[in-house]
Order: sequence, then structure tokens, then C-alpha cells
Amino acid sequence: MFQKNMFFFLILILTTASAKDADFSYNGFGAAKLRLDGIADIAPNGLLRLTGTRQQAKGHAFLPTPLRFKNSTTGKALSFSTSFIFAIIPKYQDLFGHGIAFVLAQSVDLSYALPSQFLGLFNSSNSYSSNQIVAIEFDTNMNPDVDDIDNNHVGIDANSPKSINSSHAAYFTNDNEGRFENLSLASGKPIQAWIEYSHLDGLLSVTLAPIDVAKPGVPRLSSYVNLSSLISDYMYVGFSSSVGTFTTSHYILGWSFKLNGRAQALDLSRLPSLPRTGSKSRLESWKIGLPIILAILLLLIIVIGITLLVNSRIKFREVFEDWELEYGPQRFCFKDLFLATKGFRDQHLLGAGGFGKVYSGVLPNTGIQVAVKQVSHESRQGMREFIAEIVSIGRLRHRNLVQLLGYCRRKGELLLVYEFMPNGSLDQHLFNQPKLMLSWGQRFQIIKGVASALYYLHEGWEKVVVHRDIKASNILLDDQMNGRLGDFGLARLYDHGTDPHTTHVVGTLGYLAPELAKTGKATTSTDVFAFGGFLLEVACGRRPIETRASEQEIVLVDKVLECWKAGTIVEVRDPNLGNEYIAEEMEMVLKLGLLCSHPDSSSRPPMRLVMRILERDAPLPEMTGDGWQAEISAIGKEGFDDIGMSDSSLLNMLACSASTTESAPLTGR
Ligand SMILES: *[C@@H]1O[C@H](CO)[C@@H](O)[C@H](O)[C@H]1NC(C)=O
Ligand SMILES: *[C@@H]1O[C@H](CO)[C@@H](O)[C@H](O)[C@H]1NC(C)=O
Ligand SMILES: *[C@@H]1O[C@H](CO)[C@@H](O)[C@H](O)[C@H]1NC(C)=O
Ligand SMILES: *[C@@H]1O[C@H](CO)[C@@H](O)[C@H](O)[C@H]1NC(C)=O
Ligand SMILES: *[C@@H]1O[C@H](CO)[C@@H](O)[C@H](O)[C@H]1NC(C)=O
Repeated sequence: MFQKNMFFFLILILTTASAKDADFSYNGFGAAKLRLDGIADIAPNGLLRLTGTRQQAKGHAFLPTPLRFKNSTTGKALSFSTSFIFAIIPKYQDLFGHGIAFVLAQSVDLSYALPSQFLGLFNSSNSYSSNQIVAIEFDTNMNPDVDDIDNNHVGIDANSPKSINSSHAAYFTNDNEGRFENLSLASGKPIQAWIEYSHLDGLLSVTLAPIDVAKPGVPRLSSYVNLSSLISDYMYVGFSSSVGTFTTSHYILGWSFKLNGRAQALDLSRLPSLPRTGSKSRLESWKIGLPIILAILLLLIIVIGITLLVNSRIKFREVFEDWELEYGPQRFCFKDLFLATKGFRDQHLLGAGGFGKVYSGVLPNTGIQVAVKQVSHESRQGMREFIAEIVSIGRLRHRNLVQLLGYCRRKGELLLVYEFMPNGSLDQHLFNQPKLMLSWGQRFQIIKGVASALYYLHEGWEKVVVHRDIKASNILLDDQMNGRLGDFGLARLYDHGTDPHTTHVVGTLGYLAPELAKTGKATTSTDVFAFGGFLLEVACGRRPIETRASEQEIVLVDKVLECWKAGTIVEVRDPNLGNEYIAEEMEMVLKLGLLCSHPDSSSRPPMRLVMRILERDAPLPEMTGDGWQAEISAIGKEGFDDIGMSDSSLLNMLACSASTTESAPLTGR
């Protein structure tokens, strides 16, 4: 009775013990008691990592106590079933090793095993282990020494790294077609595996599928094994992994196991999450590559930036001296002018003359339309005085002066910014069959305007300003066809600091007073002389010197003088006018023109008187023809003969005149 009870009691203990230990399910290993070695660890979220972070390493995780795997009465291996989910995440895509194995081992002392190949289970390809081992390998390394079929296979091992049977990792779908789907073990995605052994027929089968696919009906690999001859009574059960040269993380997310029965299904919703599933390898390579790429990019940006900066510094370089500080408001920045004229493009070119090219433009900040005159000059001598003068003139306000808005200086170049005159220069409307013929009324208005501007320059301001280059092409027309005097003072730039032996007499042939040619000294009187020439130009519609005319008519003054003497002065008027003119005004303008062009400077009226005459406040002084004739012939003709000779100053005058006759207008064509 006692024996019977005792036997029953023992049976009870054994069954409860085996029931307790041999049927478990871990959805994450947070609460699991596992025996870890090597570099295996369990993350706080319950994720079991067999290997990772290190190369040439192994890791094991076993149940802490061995299970009784054999029927104590028959001595035959028991049936078992297990299911687990693993993930293999390589550091670098396509570079990984070596894999995971589900292991039954007699001893968990696997210290003899190599840290690299053979999955942390064996130490050489041919020496049989003294340990008893049955393993199902998920091998990501192709080792020809052990007849591996590829680097992505499942195999059944018994006491040797050489598999009894193996096959490429894949699964059959459960749908009607039963398609064959390849599976990449080291894809980084979780994979579920089922391993079953039946003691009835000794068939060991392995099935695997992606985590989102139900267990396929057909196993991927199956072999008849005499497990009873391969294992001891008690076996440890668990996992093993090893890593070679290429750092690879081998994870187990969940595991269920049952002896003598079917293992429980895993609860996928309770599994720990993987660290940055899948993208880790890419992330890792970015971690190395990105700083390099960024560094290269940064370097490129810096180099390009510096080049651009240096280029723009050179491109927009200006000359600025301390004395210019007081002209700050009149000083333009070259960049603005460059942008305004679209880089001084030809489309913006209004004209080119002796002093330089003139461009139209719109200032970027204010949107004001301007004309920019580009004056090249070699020497810096006299620049200070010149700037002082043009800036102070720029401060003058007169409705018949073209307003100077400011300037900018660069090496060898001066840029003058004027208000834009939409109707071009007067000469365009006078000579060579103009498109838009000016009526006498308009002409007389222009004459009076220019006279008042010149009077203002000579007498209306605190100091006398000599214009030096009065002529039709320097008179500009605003939107209401008012004459506006432009380019004043510019001639002065060319006066300063030049060699006395090659004195430049600046001005334009035909407008140059005789005494100017001799002394080189510009005065208000020489301005009046040029104004006289301008009056005759406007009235007669031709230039003071017309080389294409017949010999007697080359010099306009001579021609007018002839007609005056003959009593037919009005006949020299611009033929384009026809009869559309006021005879009194025409006569007065022509006679005034002659008077102003008087060779003797003391006979010329001052601008104050010119103004009064034009306004009919004062009568035109009487002129005697004799004095005229004599002096014109004496000075005017002699002067011209001189040009043909080797007088350097006069040659210079010619050269300069030739270049300045086509003075650039500040306006659109
Ligand atoms: C062992 O085998 C005997 C005879 O086949 C059977 O009755 C018994 O249930 C088995 N024990 C276990 C634990 O499987
Ligand atoms: C390999 O491991 C076995 C134990 O399984 C041991 O006896 C043997 O000495 C080891 N061989 C080498 C070369 O380490
Ligand atoms: C599966 O992989 C093997 C070996 O890489 C290849 O030969 C076969 O074509 C693949 N099959 C499918 C369906 O991709
Ligand atoms: C190896 O596995 C395949 C697939 O399960 C099976 O068809 C074949 O019979 C097995 N070979 C051996 C020797 O067990
Ligand atoms: C399995 O192995 C055991 C012990 O080595 C032996 O007695 C038995 O006959 C084997 N069974 C088969 C089917 O080979």
C-alpha cells in the first residue's frame, strides 16, 4: 500500500515537474529566467539579444535547468514542439553573419566553441563535439567546409556543424496556389519559426514564415532523425548565436515550447519592439557617410562662397577716400549702379561720347530712372576738386539744369548719376533730318531755358561756375521739351594737372572762343561765345562747322554774318521751319548769336544782358559790321590755319574736339 502510494506520489512529482518546466511561452523575456552567456543580454523592453555590438563574439540563452527529454520507462525521446520569433539585423546591408540556432544541449558549457563560425556551438568543422548537441540552424553564412548550400539557409545539425539536411530559407503560402516565397533571414524583419518532433515517426520538421503570415501548412525542411540516439535523458534547451567580422545583431522576440504536445501560439501584440527595425543598417552607414558628405559639402560651399565673395569684391570694388566722407549722401554704391544698368549692358547704352558712355538704368532700391555716365580717367589728380565741384553743382537746383544725383568712384573710372531725360539731346532734334522737328516756339523756349540756366551758373550762385561745353548735344530735353543744361563741369576734369606743353583745351570745335584757343583759360565769356554758337545752331538747324557744306558756308558764323551784311539775316534760318516762325524773334536770336560769337571777348554781352534781351527787357546793342569782318578774318581764319600746323596745343584741341563733338546724350534714343 505504502509502495503503491509512494509510486503514485513520485509520478505526481514528475508529472508536475515536467508540466511546470516543459510548457512555457515568453512574449518578450522581461520576466523570463534564462541562463545567458557570452555577450547575450535582455533589453529592458524584454528583447533578447544573443549577439550584437561586437565582432568575433558568441552568445547563448538557455533555460536554467535541463528538461527530461526521454520517457523514463521506454528511454525514447519525447515529442516536442516549439515556436519562436527572431530577427537578424546586420550593421551593414549585405554584410552579416553567422546566424541563430535553436539548440538541445547536454551541457551549457560552450566555452570551447569558436566565437566566429559554427554558431557558437562547435570549435572546428570536422572534430565531433564531446557535448551532445542537436541544433536547428538559421545560417546566414556560407561555409563550404561544412557543405553549406548558401548564406541564407535552414539546417538540422546533430553533433556536427555539417547539417543532416538543409534548404534555402523560404516558405509556401497557405493560399490555393501554395506559392513558394523566398525569405531573407538577415533582412532585419522578424521571422517566425516552428520546430516539431514526433516520437511516433521520428520526423523533425522546420517551418518558417514572415511574422505577418500564418504558419504555412507545409514545412520547409524535414528529416527523420533518431533523436533517442542523439540526446541524453536531460537536455538544456535554448538558443545560440555567433558573429564574425561583420557586426550583426541576433534577436529573439518571443518563444514558446512544449514537450509532448503543441506549443502555445505567441501573442504578437505583446512582443518587444526591435530597435529601429530594418533601417538600422542604412542608418549606420549614413552615420559614417553623412559627416563625410556634409564635410565635403561644407568645404565646397565655403570655397564657392569665398570665390563668389572675392569675385564680387573685385567686381564691385570702389575707390573711397577720407575726403569723400562729406559727400556720403551723394555717393552711390557701385553694386547698385551695376544692378541698375544690368551690368552696363549694351541694351542700356544711351550713347557714347568723348567723356565716356552713358547708360540708362533703374535704381534697385528706389526705382528711380537714372542716366549713368561712365567717365574714364587716368589720374587721381584734381579728382578731389572735381568731385567737390560737381557735388556742389549737384546741390544746385535749377529747372534748366540736369540734376546730378550723385557719383561713384572706381579705379580709373568715375560714374556720374543724373536724372533721366526722356526726350534725348537737342542735337537729335535739330540736325540731319530729325524724326521730331522742333517748332520755333519750342526752340525759343529751349533757348530761354538754357540762357537762364547759364545765367544762374555764372551769376546766380555764390561762386562762378563755368560750364565749358555749351552745345546742342549737351542740352537735354525733359518730358515737357524744356531745355536742360547737362554735363557741366565735366570738361574741368580734363583740365587739371595735365602737362602744360600739351594743354588740353576742352570744348568743341566751333564753340571755342578764339582767346580760349590761345590761353586755354575758360571764362564766363568763353561760355557766352559757345552760347552764341548754340543760338545760331538752333536757329539755323545746322552745326557751327559743317565740313560737308560748300567752302563759304563751312563756318556757320561766317554765313550768318554774310547774310546780316546783305540785310537778309532771316534767310539763314533752318529751312525745315518753312514760314512757321516769328520773324522778330528769329532776327533777334540770330543777331544775339552773332553778338555772343564776337571774336573780341569784351564785345560779348554777359548772360545777365543776354537774358534781358531774350525777355525783351533790353534792346539788342548795335553792331558794326567792319570790326566784325576784320576780327573774324584775323582771328578765326588764322586760328584755323594754325590747326594745320604743328602747334601741339592746337593739334590736341583738334583731337579732343573730334572726340567730343559726338558728346553722349543723357537720354534714350
Ligand atoms: C512513457 O511511455 C509509456 C509507455 O509507452 C507511457 O505509458 C507513458 O505515458 C510515457 N510517459 C511519458 C512521460 O510520456
Ligand atoms: C574542441 O572542443 C572539444 C570539446 O567539445 C575539445 O575537447 C577540443 O579540445 C576542442 N578543440 C580545440 C582545437 O579547441
Ligand atoms: C529564391 O531564391 C533562389 C536562390 O537565391 C532562386 O534561385 C529562386 O529563383 C528564388 N525564388 C523566388 C520565387 O524568388
Ligand atoms: C531534406 O528535406 C527535404 C525537404 O523537407 C525533404 O524532402 C528531404 O527528404 C530531406 N532529406 C533527408 C535526407 O531527410
Ligand atoms: C534509434 O537508436 C536506438 C539507440 O541507439 C536504437 O536502439 C534504435 O534501434 C534506433 N532506431 C532506429 C529506427 O534506427
